[in-house]
Amino acid sequence: MAIRKVREVGDDVLTKECREVKKMTPRISQLIDDMFDTMYEYNGVGLAAPQVGVLRRIIVVDVGEDPRALINPRIVSHEGTQTGEEGCLSFPGKYGIVTRPMKVTVEGLDRNMNPVSWEAEGLLARCFCHEVDHLDGHMYTEFVEGEIHDVAMEEAMEEEDE
Ligand code: NI
Repeated sequence: MAIRKVREVGDDVLTKECREVKKMTPRISQLIDDMFDTMYEYNGVGLAAPQVGVLRRIIVVDVGEDPRALINPRIVSHEGTQTGEEGCLSFPGKYGIVTRPMKVTVEGLDRNMNPVSWEAEGLLARCFCHEVDHLDGHMYTEFVEGEIHDVAMEEAMEEEDE
């Protein structure tokens, strides 16, 4: 178990295309464990390998249901739209409104290198889209509607209530 340093916006590694994973190795397995540890340490719901400086097509997600790692992920279909707030561990303390599909089907390999096809909706769908974008060097900030802001809407609403 290890927490890795999260690369932040301005770091070139976040703008690069990641390479596919051809086989599971102890090193890749360790990377996946460390990605989970790092995501939980920073209270994220998803993390992509380039965010810890590794240019491989690997993501981890956990929106509070079940933790999943996905290798060589592809969004193969999508349906509907959702517009909501998004943030990124590589751009700490910033948020922006992004429109994403409401539902997606994502395919790839699980950590045993078995092919999987998962359907996701709502936050999980948003999360898969966000993380897969990282593997092609894209950040949500490219798709933000309006201004990027400093306070999450949820926190802003809590402040208004006080
Ligand atoms: Ni991100």
